[in-house]
Amino acid sequence: MAANKKLLILPGDGIGPEVMGEVRRIIGWFERERGLGFDIEEDLVGGCAIDAYGVPLADKTLDLAMGADAVLLGAVGGPKWEPLPFEIRPERGLLKLRKEMQLYANLRPAIVFDELADASTLKHEVVAGLDILIIRELTGDLYFGTPRGVETLPDGTRRGVNTMVYTSPEVRRVARIAFDLARKRGSKVCSVDKANVVETTEMWREEVIKLHGEGYEDIQLSHMYVDNAAMQLVRNPKQFDVIVTGNIFGDILSDEAAMLTGSLGMLPSASLGDPDESGRRRALYEPVHGSAPDITGQGVANPLATVLSFAMMLRYSFDMDAEAEMVEQAVRNVLKSGLRTGDIMQPGMAQVSTTVMGEAIIRELGKLG
Ligand code: NAI
Ligand code: MG
Repeated sequence: MAANKKLLILPGDGIGPEVMGEVRRIIGWFERERGLGFDIEEDLVGGCAIDAYGVPLADKTLDLAMGADAVLLGAVGGPKWEPLPFEIRPERGLLKLRKEMQLYANLRPAIVFDELADASTLKHEVVAGLDILIIRELTGDLYFGTPRGVETLPDGTRRGVNTMVYTSPEVRRVARIAFDLARKRGSKVCSVDKANVVETTEMWREEVIKLHGEGYEDIQLSHMYVDNAAMQLVRNPKQFDVIVTGNIFGDILSDEAAMLTGSLGMLPSASLGDPDESGRRRALYEPVHGSAPDITGQGVANPLATVLSFAMMLRYSFDMDAEAEMVEQAVRNVLKSGLRTGDIMQPGMAQVSTTVMGEAIIRELGKLG
């Protein structure tokens, strides 16, 4: 019998525990009905960790994360901790976790369920059925390159500098993830750069092409300048399948793609690192949304972004594609049946609570298998 999967669950702050509660019940269903074995640890991160441990990410929590096969996180932050200095804010816990786990590839699917296509500001036919995956490099680029900083020159002029830095191994490892996932999805990769004017990204393009020639010839590879990619994403987003790009371009394009779907409460994400000696890839799964203090404690949060993050975990950490598809199909069926949380409410649909949405997913899972 296969060893149990070691899972660390970090519900975090605000609506985090509410949406994670529904995922825990779904995990329970898989354990009972499908015999999946999970060893689950749960701990604090963010503001609740500051309250309990004095820091947003305790060493013991980090140890649990490093020893886990996958980490599932809710959200961190809230007004209560905003007066704190930047270095000990809840968000630092998440940044530290990503850094220590050396997660360098951020996966952001933009999926438009047909039933929700009207939530987009774009025309129905432009976004209906959209299913693309943006992969953003997370550890390099302008955010970390040196020299950096702002100085005041003797004449009083202020001078700001940031430096775009990438090395070839950094480009290759994220491009490899893009090619591997494109192969799983059975399609193509578009690498986005600004190779016509920025040398670092010219090197990016050359390295992607080189890697493509080393065993990925079956993947259809294209290249696009970032300004054009920004236009194409709103003109005809369905032309893309997997997009891979650097940290700064990816920051912007992934938020642009998120808005094609029009519903923050539906967006999952994954952050992946390198495989260790045993082939296990470090991975963190979390919804794109934050802790939503404005609706915390009301039982109205949409749990589907976290549910879909759990589906990504099944697929990318555990190769449980069939189970991942079951979860996604259950989400689709529940939307088809007309249930909506407040954030995705439409005329004529039934507005339901977080828990009723979770129960409906479990009912659909029961019908599917
Ligand atoms: P937010 O994503 O928490 O909320 C934005 C708006 O979307 C709010 O009106 C909220 O009610 C709504 N919303 C978000 N998720 C929802 C869901 N699942 N169901 C229904 N409605 C939902 O972003 P905001 O307001 O900018 O930040 C609030 C706090 O969250 C801040 O402390 C911020 O630092 C933190 N944050 C944390 C993130 C994380 O943990 N990864 C990411 C973004 C923000
Ligand atoms: Mg952003």
